[in-house]
Amino acid sequence: MQELISQAAEIILRSKLTLALTGAGISVESGIPDFRSADGLWSKYDPAEYATIEAFQADPEKVWQMLRDMEEVVASAKPNKAHIGLGELEKMGYLHYIITQNIDNLHQEGGSKNVIEYHGNSSTLSCIWCGKRYKTEEKRDEFPPKCECKKILKPDVVFFGEPIPAEALNRSFQLASSAEALLVIGTSAVVSPANTIPTIAKQNHAKIIEINKERTHLTDSITDIFLQGGAGAIVESLVEEVKRQGGGNHLM
Ligand code: APR
Repeated sequence: MQELISQAAEIILRSKLTLALTGAGISVESGIPDFRSADGLWSKYDPAEYATIEAFQADPEKVWQMLRDMEEVVASAKPNKAHIGLGELEKMGYLHYIITQNIDNLHQEGGSKNVIEYHGNSSTLSCIWCGKRYKTEEKRDEFPPKCECKKILKPDVVFFGEPIPAEALNRSFQLASSAEALLVIGTSAVVSPANTIPTIAKQNHAKIIEINKERTHLTDSITDIFLQGGAGAIVESLVEEVKRQGGGNHLM
């Protein structure tokens, strides 16, 4: 593994534009279950019944049963070594943007500034009827949270059947088409359009470094370096190796 970490660090040091695509797996060590592992969220709640915009419009109180479970773990979650390590890489000038599918705000709390959120962020709630927006924090003790117009509020996260924010989509495709290195961390890469980012980057000759505790469909198709294991320990080792080889300042 150390040899692979060293090769990955070399790629990062040489890259003039490095991106990271992250999924739920990067936050599992912060206590937030992912979706598709054995004990993931979708083993408890059928996404077709709880995670589509139609399900929310038809029965918001039912969907809030799942959302409350998620809110409780997200509210108490702290950034782990993987989030903090990516924040350090950005500070040193070796990581330029994170494209995340997560809604937990842990990249920002872990020190990253350039975060493109594909699926929104659960720290605010909106009324899909009158458009008023609230901080999730200010409605913490209301269940389900209601707007002053008495309708039930929806978290500002993207449900299945809703579009990805256009700005996030355009910016991420533009970056992926000129990236020289892409870290793919903690995602099964089964949900579109986020899962097209690795393919776009690869088509433009970026090196793909995958960090996951298990192999995915990317591993044997487009991944150049597969670092298998927990994201926290691997990102930590990768950052140490970048510091060791690069002396800490970005050479490009
Ligand atoms: N370290 C590294 N990888 C991990 C860890 C860990 N500690 N724990 C889990 N993983 C990996 C799993 O092996 C899996 O490949 O993270 C991945 C998580 O995959 P999913 O649960 O499918 O999550 P994600 O890829 O983010 O799902 C994408 O699907 O349901 C929608 O909107 C939801 O954003 C989500 C999207």
